[in-house]
Amino acid sequence: MSTSATNTEDKKRFGDFIVSPLPDATFGGLVQLTNGGDANAVVDAAETNPDALPSALYDAQGFLFLPGMGAISDDPDLLLRLSRLFGVEVEDYGKTLTAKNFVHETVPEIFIVSNIAPAIRQPPARPDPPLTENNELPTQFPHRRGWHTDQSYRRPPPDVSLFYAVIPAPEGQGQTLYANGFAAYDALPAELKAKAESLIGIHVMPGSGRSEYAVRAGETPIPLEPHQQPQRQPVVRTHPVTGQRALFLCEAGQMDWIQGPFVGMEPGPDGDGAKLLYELMAHYTQPAFTYTHNWGQGDLVVYDNRSSIHAATWYESDGNRRQMWRTTTRGNPGPEYDGEARSWIPKVG
Ligand SMILES: [Fe+2]
Repeated sequence: MSTSATNTEDKKRFGDFIVSPLPDATFGGLVQLTNGGDANAVVDAAETNPDALPSALYDAQGFLFLPGMGAISDDPDLLLRLSRLFGVEVEDYGKTLTAKNFVHETVPEIFIVSNIAPAIRQPPARPDPPLTENNELPTQFPHRRGWHTDQSYRRPPPDVSLFYAVIPAPEGQGQTLYANGFAAYDALPAELKAKAESLIGIHVMPGSGRSEYAVRAGETPIPLEPHQQPQRQPVVRTHPVTGQRALFLCEAGQMDWIQGPFVGMEPGPDGDGAKLLYELMAHYTQPAFTYTHNWGQGDLVVYDNRSSIHAATWYESDGNRRQMWRTTTRGNPGPEYDGEARSWIPKVG
């Protein structure tokens, strides 16, 4: 087991839901209906009291786990209904330049993460070595790579994601790791906190040839359209609902390692900016701030992209099927984005 402490706070009630501290974690809530029931009952109760689950999310530091939601697989609209409670707008992937093979056929607000056709995407590589000295799944950067917050290469960035297991990877594989940006920010050593405070990260969409790996490999970056340009984001954000400060940054694949990773610092994978990013990311992903979710069929998690990062892990793709559904909400990124046009939508004309 990791060195993380376990939540010890008492159970709390939000509407018809009981939220317990998430086991084996220092943040997060385990959500159950007071009288039990499947995903239909959960969605009905959530819609009856629309503040209940969002309040629970913010109280639990931006992470909720709802087990037993398997009815969503037969009625994906349940996931959409639930998502609407967590943001002003649920992204319609059918309208945001997303390749069709990743978009659910009947509910275009669902993005499909799977190794099954047509949405074929392979899992990340295993860390090297695959386990820590204590025979545990590595979580801390840079042993663990791939930490990111969803769509950080857009301004304004999104609010909340919901992630649902239709077909999980085999047991002990294909976990998702989450890290709490509030706790990581609060625990920053004074000198590092002072450096982070006014720092601006340069984020870019994956696959643009500007990642750490691509730059190290000497790849030629692809030409980016105006709506694909790297975007600047503060490294410390104030949460628009709770007012708490949180770290907000990604690593290899979603930062621009040509201009960045940080504005005003020496660029490139071996520059001063990279050194600072490594230091911040290693701090952010310490066991004290991370949680490993082992997926079961019908599990649903809700995570706040404004205050957390996450990473996928390897699974044996050959001979195994895995399918996950994700929705993403937006509309409340905080006052620093007030009135901005959406960076990722091509301008007409
Ligand atoms: Fe993600």
